[in-house]
Amino acid sequence: MSGAQELDEHFIQLEQEAAHATEAALDLQQLDAVRVKYLGSKSDVVTTLKRMAELPADQRGPVGKRANDFKRTLETRLAERRRALAQSLRAPAIDVTLPGIVPPLGRLHPITQTMDAIVGCFLPLGFEIVEGPELEQAWYNFDALNIPAEHPSREAFDTFFVDVPASDPTRGRPLLRSHTSPVQIRVMQHRKPPLRIVVPGKVFRPDPLDASHSFMFHQVEGLMVDDRTNFADLRGILAQCLEQLFGPETRVRFRPHFFPFTEPSAEVDIACTACGGRGCSTCGQKGWLEIMGCGMVHPHVFKAVGYDPAAVQGFAFGMGVERIAMLKHGIKDIRLFFENDLRFLEQF
Ligand code: DAH
Repeated sequence: MSGAQELDEHFIQLEQEAAHATEAALDLQQLDAVRVKYLGSKSDVVTTLKRMAELPADQRGPVGKRANDFKRTLETRLAERRRALAQSLRAPAIDVTLPGIVPPLGRLHPITQTMDAIVGCFLPLGFEIVEGPELEQAWYNFDALNIPAEHPSREAFDTFFVDVPASDPTRGRPLLRSHTSPVQIRVMQHRKPPLRIVVPGKVFRPDPLDASHSFMFHQVEGLMVDDRTNFADLRGILAQCLEQLFGPETRVRFRPHFFPFTEPSAEVDIACTACGGRGCSTCGQKGWLEIMGCGMVHPHVFKAVGYDPAAVQGFAFGMGVERIAMLKHGIKDIRLFFENDLRFLEQF
């Protein structure tokens, strides 16, 4: 066997060895050791190249070429491995056996949930959801609802007036609506009976913030108008809704009251959810909790929207969403709803 052939086989073997060692290197230090071993000054290649002069002239070319091929191939491999190792140092390998990171799942705010539950009582009865503007005008919020300017009941609806140009100069001062009842007017103005609507939304009153008052809260308004809707319909529908919200055993009572926009008017109470009616601090020893206002739509309201009071009749009701949520869940402070403390919100 000629020296050249032997050398060739020697390099093939060396090449395989070096390739394995390169792949097996787990960090840059180990990789450098591979380089020193196979390409360093005491390595086979370098020794071979140094001994070139001792070879017969016709072998020098092929041997030199073989040794240089080996060198170049290994250098390329080392560079690739170096890049791969550096990469994995920067981005540690993903450990697929670790438990995944569960993104926090949102949920509906308790007020939204309560509002959905209230509205949900009426949808199967053919009511549709309508919304109205939070920035209202005095005529819709008061006058059209039979609350004239000089009337003392207007004081009961303390109001945030807003200093902006009125979108309709004939409809009074702009204000933040103090109840959802003006949406009754807006809907009736544009539509003919029969109608059945529920109106969820925000309302605003300049009340100092305390455990039971907020300058912003939510109401759900309801209105049903056709040619024969009566107080018995109103009673039946509201009682059914309250049983759905507070449980089938819920006792409901209608108590005469005054609202300018309904006649007759009533307040609806349920037997106290805390004591069952015996009397406690939640119900102020009364045994009953006031839940909402309601009544038969006043003829003046029908006139204001251009309906003939002799030809139509209807009922309306309005309830506070926070109050219902508080009674349903035993929450003692309305401010909790708006502080965005997840420890509170996550309970619903
Ligand atoms: N708007 C009234 C309030 O904010 C609630 C109300 C009472 C609405 C009687 C009605 C109703 O539609 O008929 O206190």
